[in-house]
Amino acid sequence: MTFEFVNSSFDMKSYFHIFFCFIILNSCSSNVKECDTRDAMVVSARKEASEIGLMMMKKGGNAFDAMIATELALAVVYPSAGNLGGGGFMVYRLSDGSVGSLDYREKAPIKATKKMFLNEINEIIPKSSTYGALSIGIPGTIAGIFRVHEKFGSLPIEEVFKPVIALANNGYKINNKQSERFKKYLPEIRKINSTNSMYSREYKAGDTIKNIQLANLLIRIMQNGPDEFYKGESSKKLIKFLKSKGSIISAKDLEKYKAIWRTPITFQYDDLKIISMPPPSSGGICINQIMKMIEPYDLKKLGHNSSDYIKLLVESFKRSYADRAVYMGDPDFNDIPYKKITNQNYLSKKMKQFSFQKPTPPHEIYSTNTEIKESLETTHYSIVDPFGNSVSATTTLNSSFGSKLFCDELGIFLNNQMNDFAIKSGHPNIYGLIGGEINSIQAEKRMLSSMSPTIIEKNNNFYMTLGTPGGSTIITSVIQTILNVHEFSMGMEESVNSPRFHHQLFPDVIKIEKNKFNDMLLIDLENDGYDLEIVTPYGRVDGILALEGCLEGGSDNRGNDYAIGF
Ligand code: GLY
Repeated sequence: MTFEFVNSSFDMKSYFHIFFCFIILNSCSSNVKECDTRDAMVVSARKEASEIGLMMMKKGGNAFDAMIATELALAVVYPSAGNLGGGGFMVYRLSDGSVGSLDYREKAPIKATKKMFLNEINEIIPKSSTYGALSIGIPGTIAGIFRVHEKFGSLPIEEVFKPVIALANNGYKINNKQSERFKKYLPEIRKINSTNSMYSREYKAGDTIKNIQLANLLIRIMQNGPDEFYKGESSKKLIKFLKSKGSIISAKDLEKYKAIWRTPITFQYDDLKIISMPPPSSGGICINQIMKMIEPYDLKKLGHNSSDYIKLLVESFKRSYADRAVYMGDPDFNDIPYKKITNQNYLSKKMKQFSFQKPTPPHEIYSTNTEIKESLETTHYSIVDPFGNSVSATTTLNSSFGSKLFCDELGIFLNNQMNDFAIKSGHPNIYGLIGGEINSIQAEKRMLSSMSPTIIEKNNNFYMTLGTPGGSTIITSVIQTILNVHEFSMGMEESVNSPRFHHQLFPDVIKIEKNKFNDMLLIDLENDGYDLEIVTPYGRVDGILALEGCLEGGSDNRGNDYAIGF
């Protein structure tokens, strides 16, 4: 079954162009499982997005052209997380070794206030920060991709946009996992959107979804630049829609939005140089803290996913998540004491009471309490180009389909990123993460994230690019994947698919992926005082590893992720 939203205005020339490009792609190696790719690779949550990214490099474009195409294609074929109505982070490393990062995170509207999600008696108004108009932050994706293009793009923007526009016009086939997700969220989507809204319909696996309004929006943006989204005709449509739904976002909010280049977090672990995302993501600092806390231990000797290995990592996770709540927020609003909290003496002191014999009680690390509710949306992609540049990008609407508000006139879902603020001090967000004053809501502030796009260098050369969705579990998934490769000699594919565990201090449980760890190990951990929560497999780590003379892609089999290269 094919659904068409409205008539296309896209010309036939573009269809031939797309047809030609797909012919070229047939000569590429696909769903790369082994080291059979020499020059370039894209790994993302969807085959179509990886293919369009690779197409850019086949045309002579670089990793940044591929990034823009992949990011936009995910908005078409992976609407639960890929987006124009959300935001993200990107870390890059150029062939000359220089590194940087881009913050295209959403920010709070000008009219946002600290207590906007609380009632008169300071109680949280249920769902107000997760569902509907008030939960939306100012979207950053379009500003982000144009920032990337003006600095690093090598193909004309039209060449990057056209295949994505064709994809939106021609449609994409939804797979089993997607149809299940649509089904799960359909009642919430229906409740807040009109009954004939595009995603208020029921889709089955195998159906083709065309998003003609998104194609038209992309055509206008391609022709008029980012101003189209932030100041032009499309911004007016968006503001009108948001106002009708009760949003406080104004035309001025859109006009003022800027994506920001930031200096990444870099640190040494053994002979690796790790390059990751700085605040407003907590990812880079937490990865830095945790890896420096565990570096003095002989992990190989402890053994991969052994009881002692899990205990060591879990205890370092707990200590870092405590600091996340106290010290991390938007760097444009707060001083983040990065040097202090990544100093080796400081970290050694934190690990002083660590023991393999018993867990450190959470209240000795941080005094508050909470419960976790996990949501695992967001999406990550990794790219390496034939010129030696690499990109690691994570983008999100926050929850699956964000606020669930879908603007039919533009063909986009809007995020619910406001929930990543500490909406009430010490109160958990949807990931169970707590935060304090430093991450409280303020007008135009960016909410703290866990997204951790990461690139790794070894012997001054590119070694690895990786990242994952998974909310609060992102940080611990990225670390375990790095350690799988570095300490336990796994390839990328094996590493991303390896069993994972997670702890974030509160709630005081180790989350253990179901059916992936042996019972004896779990009994051991319980006997040593740890509470366990068996959870469905989470995260979708997508990465690329440089081996001698070639690249190995790792596409997480927890999703329908796809690696392709040439
Ligand atoms: N919204 C999830 C994150 O940014 O960490």
